[in-house]
Amino acid sequence: MPDTIQPSLDEIVSLAKRRGFAYQTSAIYGGLANSYDFGPLGVELLRNIKNEWWNEFINKRPDMVGIDSQILLHPQTWVASGHVGSFNDPLVDDVVTKKRYRADHLIEEWVENQNAKGDTKWINFNIEELSLKEMAKFIQENEILSPDGNKVTDPKSFNLLFETSIGNIADEKTKVYLRGETAQGIFTNFRQVLDSTRVQIPFGIGQIGKSFRNEITTGQFVFRTFELEQAEIEYFFNPKNQDWHELLEKWKEQMMNFVVNNLGVRNENLRWRRHSDIERSFYSKDTYDLDYNYSFGWKELWGVAYRTDYDLKQHMEYSGQSLAYRDPHTDEVFVPHVVEPALGIGRAFLMVLTDAYFNDKEKNRIVLKLKPSLAPYKVAVFPLVKNKPEIVSRAEKLYSILSSKFSCTWDSRGNIGKRYLYQDEIGTPFCVTVDYESLEDEQVTVRNRDTAIQERVSIEKLESYIISMLK
Ligand code: GAP
Repeated sequence: MPDTIQPSLDEIVSLAKRRGFAYQTSAIYGGLANSYDFGPLGVELLRNIKNEWWNEFINKRPDMVGIDSQILLHPQTWVASGHVGSFNDPLVDDVVTKKRYRADHLIEEWVENQNAKGDTKWINFNIEELSLKEMAKFIQENEILSPDGNKVTDPKSFNLLFETSIGNIADEKTKVYLRGETAQGIFTNFRQVLDSTRVQIPFGIGQIGKSFRNEITTGQFVFRTFELEQAEIEYFFNPKNQDWHELLEKWKEQMMNFVVNNLGVRNENLRWRRHSDIERSFYSKDTYDLDYNYSFGWKELWGVAYRTDYDLKQHMEYSGQSLAYRDPHTDEVFVPHVVEPALGIGRAFLMVLTDAYFNDKEKNRIVLKLKPSLAPYKVAVFPLVKNKPEIVSRAEKLYSILSSKFSCTWDSRGNIGKRYLYQDEIGTPFCVTVDYESLEDEQVTVRNRDTAIQERVSIEKLESYIISMLK
């Protein structure tokens, strides 16, 4: 499959900063690693992505419900889930500078360099298949050094959970963790959802929220962050009635459809990858990643795992509470199994920006060809000039009508050409200009983002025109 030429990460980061999609966090203090704030445009795009997901997977489906659990959960949750013991990355230290690096990333970089030099021995190398010991051996045998050119220690496991403490008694603090995945809030609420709603197996519980991971890798923009937003589903089923392979395949299809149809991403930039036995998380029996062709290579966007009954059983053991389900038709009592599609919203955001970015060299413009439903603004309204009160007030009236139907923006600064270029860069599908003639003929100029074609449309028919074009 030929890879399409993607914009560079620098181009995306620069557009994001220039136009208010995402900024470095605490920039006035020099920034904070792996942390980004979403600006006025970014917050709209992010919300549109989340709304698409929520509508598609929660609102439209009779077999799904949503929850919103806390970031701080009872600390036993993470002992039971296995995260305290096994949620680790392999890290090495530079023996001189003491800087930390991901061992797997150093090895991958080294292998990529060998490939680039034409050494075909490494073409099928897969880092995910190496254990900690094998990584140590690989680093020694190939004399892999840190980016500063120094030797590194053998890799050690480093836990990704962020710790903090709570407590209102002086000197007595309880250690708690910022959640490492939203999924555990779903498992720990399973009984309460069952008891308070009319759901029946098979059904799913979804939630969108922040998780936290102490990631040491830097420089991939919002792809890998300390604070990450996840949209996760635990889909509960009875393995006696439903084949998990089939269910996994069905979810894979739904995930792919969502990315292509709801997020408007090109098919050729997406592919599935199955996890090897070593790579797969401790809780999973089978896992696939939906990878996107990011500027820095094919990387995981969305994972789907068959988590079996691992989590519910662990929580039963640690809490002493039953999380079994009684089938109302057969009276069978069993612990449900789950298939879990887990999406990173930041990664979806970066994918959508990358896929929509278009450098229109012919017309000397950057266009963000976002799916209109995702665009921060659907319509920009311009008065042709700002010193003619009749034009401005007609445009204001139009803005007030249109903004009650669509998300709109207003611009009266600079010349029309510059305003178009700005709206192209932020992905606004339509620009509507009120000019001198509009005062006479009740028509406006509508300019299409993708084609740059301008049409005269009657103000009376404008709303239905935009609706038909947004479809
Ligand atoms: N509950 C399963 C789970 O958390 P995961 O593969 O570790 O699985 C799910 O995470 C998704 O969360 C990933 O597919 C990715 O999109 C996103 N994600 C994971 N770590 C991330 C990070 N440090 N920064 C941004 N997104 C991340």
